[in-house]
Amino acid sequence: MVKSTGYKKVKAAVFISGTGSNLKSLIKFSKKKNSPISIDLIISNNPKAKGLKLGKVNKIKKKVFNFKNKNKIENQILSVLKHHKIKMICLAGFMKILSRNFIAKFKGKILNIHPSLLPKYKGLNTHQRVLDNNEKYSGCTVHFVNSKLDSGKIILQKKVKISKNETRDSLAKKVIIQEHKLYPKAILKTFNL
Ligand code: GAR
Repeated sequence: MVKSTGYKKVKAAVFISGTGSNLKSLIKFSKKKNSPISIDLIISNNPKAKGLKLGKVNKIKKKVFNFKNKNKIENQILSVLKHHKIKMICLAGFMKILSRNFIAKFKGKILNIHPSLLPKYKGLNTHQRVLDNNEKYSGCTVHFVNSKLDSGKIILQKKVKISKNETRDSLAKKVIIQEHKLYPKAILKTFNL
């Protein structure tokens, strides 16, 4: 459980690697009165991540880190997070795996969104694997991050039905619409709201 500090919003950082559509929905949510979080920092491993543009538009600080030397970089990230008094991390399309040590420093305070009904289809290329297996349903999951990939405690899931002529792209579109609704709901849930 992430503790709310009463009237003040808990400062959160969002980690991204690409488009940032979940980031966009989280920013929108964070500006609402009933949101227990504010988004104070955007972190990316990819200098070309489209989502970084959202930082400028919304006046949110952004930092890009080159993950070649993961240990060193994670220590740098930890000090940036400390400097900005970040108490919660939302991974939103962040395609790097954080170390056990990093996760331990934010135990129970890191959330991730994954485009499948976990524990099914952990990892990459989710939608294609779902279709290859002729699944009837797919969906998305928000979960706490632990040291095993896509395996932490599930907070919320949303199911979507797979249509007859579903393609990887059509399924991705269907799922991501639900992701944008699910992530804010899951955050509220972690605050018991
Ligand atoms: C989302 O579908 C998210 O669930 C997925 O990447 C996409 C990012 O889109 N994350 C993963 O696959 C993590 N394993 P976005 O940049 O538009 O939010």
